[in-house]
Amino acid sequence: TDFDSFITGLPKAELHLHIEGSLEPELMFELAHRNGVTIPYGSVEEVRAAYDFSNLQDFLDIYYAGANVLRTRADFHDMAMAYFRRAARDGVIHAELMFDPQTHTDRGIPFEEVIEGLLSAMKQAETELGITSLLIMSFLRHLSEDAAFETLAMAELWLDRITAVGLDSSEVGHPPSKFARVFAAARAKGLRLTAHAGEEGPPDYVYQALDQLQVERIDHGNRALEDADLTARLAAEGMTLTVCPLSNLKLCVVDDLQHHPIDRMLGEGLKATINSDDPAYFGGYIADIYRAVMEARGLAREDLVKLARNSFTGSFLPREKADACL
Ligand code: HPA
Ligand code: ZN
Repeated sequence: TDFDSFITGLPKAELHLHIEGSLEPELMFELAHRNGVTIPYGSVEEVRAAYDFSNLQDFLDIYYAGANVLRTRADFHDMAMAYFRRAARDGVIHAELMFDPQTHTDRGIPFEEVIEGLLSAMKQAETELGITSLLIMSFLRHLSEDAAFETLAMAELWLDRITAVGLDSSEVGHPPSKFARVFAAARAKGLRLTAHAGEEGPPDYVYQALDQLQVERIDHGNRALEDADLTARLAAEGMTLTVCPLSNLKLCVVDDLQHHPIDRMLGEGLKATINSDDPAYFGGYIADIYRAVMEARGLAREDLVKLARNSFTGSFLPREKADACL
């Protein structure tokens, strides 16, 4: 439709995308076969049927199990190329890919295999599809501070090709404060900082991400809206929120897209962006999500333009490059 071509034609950046969450069931089967790994599903349909989550942990258990088919750098390359091709069709011109090294290194997969596979796909995506990208290395917050420091040490040889660090996995019970020292160490190495906060965790975790981690972005941030002072502060500071409406629906952060706070966020002056989080698991890529929130919340074209602009100004691109995309 007219509207679909408006959305796909709008240049967009994706700021909250776990590359392991882009692994579609078809590719999962192909990689299982390639690597001689058995998976607990008989068919692609069975895999999709298992994607019925009632909270974040429910999803994470299945997501970490799915990542078990990823073994070689070719696997990481193929997964990332599939994402870039799909994102390009939706009008994504810049993508900031989160990856979870510990999900792989804890299974004996060398850090080098993971990152070199991703980097080769990023290079190919730029030449073949014209998509720029950068990497955000995320620490798993259900693991220890020491484990995060070990991951930072493993990344040493590649620090010039990693733009930022992030914080993901099980939120409640693993507050940002647990990672204050490793984020300070990452910052000292010149890395930029983002963290998941306020997806399931309370507003206090958003305060901790700001004050104890000194992040430049908040991934999700939904629950910040429960605290008026925090909301006002995020707006005043122009803090980017990387909001993921379909993820919020699938993980029951909202009970219905019609109750999603995306328009309330914009109304409060928050710098919200729209992102897919784990598109293979949550049932939609970026244009689907713009369309879904537009339909559910009655957003106007000017709101979608605003969200797309925010995705560039909130990106980790150098200022001049981000401005050139507006
Ligand atoms: N939240 C926390 N951890 C994650 C997510 C998420 O939405 N996706 C992948 N890891
Ligand atoms: Zn996420």
